[in-house]
Amino acid sequence: MLTGVRRLLRLDPGLRPPSINSCDAADFFSALDKFQRGAFRCLRLRYPERGSDSFCKLVAVKAANAFAAAYHFRNRHSALVSRPVQLQVDPTNACHLHCPSCLHSANIAWASRFDWPLATLRLGEFDEFCREFGPFATRIALFRDGEPLPESLVGSGLDRLVAAIDGASTATYSRYRRGGDFGLVIDNLRSIVRARRAQSSLKPWLVWQFLAFEHNVHEVEAAAALAREIGVDQLVVAKPYSVEHDDPSIKVAERAPFGERLFAEPRNWCAATERASVTRNAEGIDAIFHESWMDRYEGVGGIERESRSPGSACTWLYYSLTMDAARRITPCCLPPMGAPEPRHLVYANFNGKNTGEVVNSFDATRARRDCRSGRTRDVDVQRASPYCVTCTEMPPPPMMPDVAGYLLSVDERRGLPAAIPTALAASRLFAWPHNEEENSEFSV
Ligand SMILES: C[S@@+](CC[C@H](N)C(=O)[O-])C[C@H]1O[C@@H](n2cnc3c(N)ncnc32)[C@H](O)[C@@H]1O
Ligand code: SF4
Ligand code: SF4
Repeated sequence: MLTGVRRLLRLDPGLRPPSINSCDAADFFSALDKFQRGAFRCLRLRYPERGSDSFCKLVAVKAANAFAAAYHFRNRHSALVSRPVQLQVDPTNACHLHCPSCLHSANIAWASRFDWPLATLRLGEFDEFCREFGPFATRIALFRDGEPLPESLVGSGLDRLVAAIDGASTATYSRYRRGGDFGLVIDNLRSIVRARRAQSSLKPWLVWQFLAFEHNVHEVEAAAALAREIGVDQLVVAKPYSVEHDDPSIKVAERAPFGERLFAEPRNWCAATERASVTRNAEGIDAIFHESWMDRYEGVGGIERESRSPGSACTWLYYSLTMDAARRITPCCLPPMGAPEPRHLVYANFNGKNTGEVVNSFDATRARRDCRSGRTRDVDVQRASPYCVTCTEMPPPPMMPDVAGYLLSVDERRGLPAAIPTALAASRLFAWPHNEEENSEFSV
């Protein structure tokens, strides 16, 4: 055992992050293979228990994948060898509320512009998605424009639950969350806290998100008191975007006690989650760990270095992937729209197996290549241009693509050298808010 440890120490005197400035893609992916093996050995030194082999492989794959994504963004490749580091899934496209500006708005003139089929994802379909994309990603959000109500929430393994409650009384709450029942929401929160206690579970971390408008800002303190009394862990008072185009009577609060308040000690649920997930999928993780990045690179058939668009690139196209309950793949949280101002954002449909085609579909690669350039270089009047070509929006991510934070929380014993999360934190791909000017600089 001791000899093995010495040998490993000699092999890995210092694991360095692969350089994302490398000009030659084959060099980069060959270095990435070495990095992944080295990262695994570093982790194994700190986690020598028999059951930790898959855990170390999984974390090494996720770290390598994040560097691959950063490398693609740095070089503005249009086809990717990496997989998304952040995933967003709508378990259902339905919602029984009608908030202003949402595609479920009660304002029919507004809501009818969206291309949004009602659908609910089957469990098997969700499993397929997780099997294909999960091992590479560091986060998954189970919502976008639907409202999931998972049964057995506490036992499901969910890490974090955000309850969007913009008020502390029935009258103010239902002004924005039209059709919502404040009493029921509070009862549900109490039940979750009770179930969490009964199961002695640390999860899910419960967040009360309060969007501050003029009509509810006077209730922030009452909401804080109620959240603490119920056993919610955190209150976030956030500044919303304007919804006056839908309902002019609802106005964003200019002054409010914006920010977070903690009612509990932050808990590290990441490490426990990953350890539990690896025991369920040891075989799959082993196969992914042993498939080389060099082979994946060759499988993609070359990545175009000259593909850089003249404008700035949108980071969503490089780190994220969204699937709705009809298994439609879009690049970000913006929903597709139909006539009169179509927003072509469905770049692929996931069938459970076509993972590479989904990431590098015709539209997704065109979107990366011509992102924000105003026009696509393909002249094909029969085909709609990807919306990314003319998009000027920059929706904030619902959660940060914080890969460095993920590695630090999951690798509790600090197997990976600090230089690894530091290098990932320095990548512009994972920075928010976006600096448009920085993103438009380009040098290889
Ligand atoms: C479109 S919603 C979908 C998620 C979920 N159905 C909900 O409403 O909470 C995505 C996120 O945006 C938030 N949101 C809704 N209206 C908003 C607004 N006007 N400004 C900022 N965030 C808003 C929601 O509370 C949620 O956290
Ligand atoms: S709760 Fe969310 S999905 Fe439902 S209507 Fe409101 S914003 Fe839309
Ligand atoms: S360019 Fe616009 S539509 Fe495309 S991914 Fe970015 S924010 Fe979404």
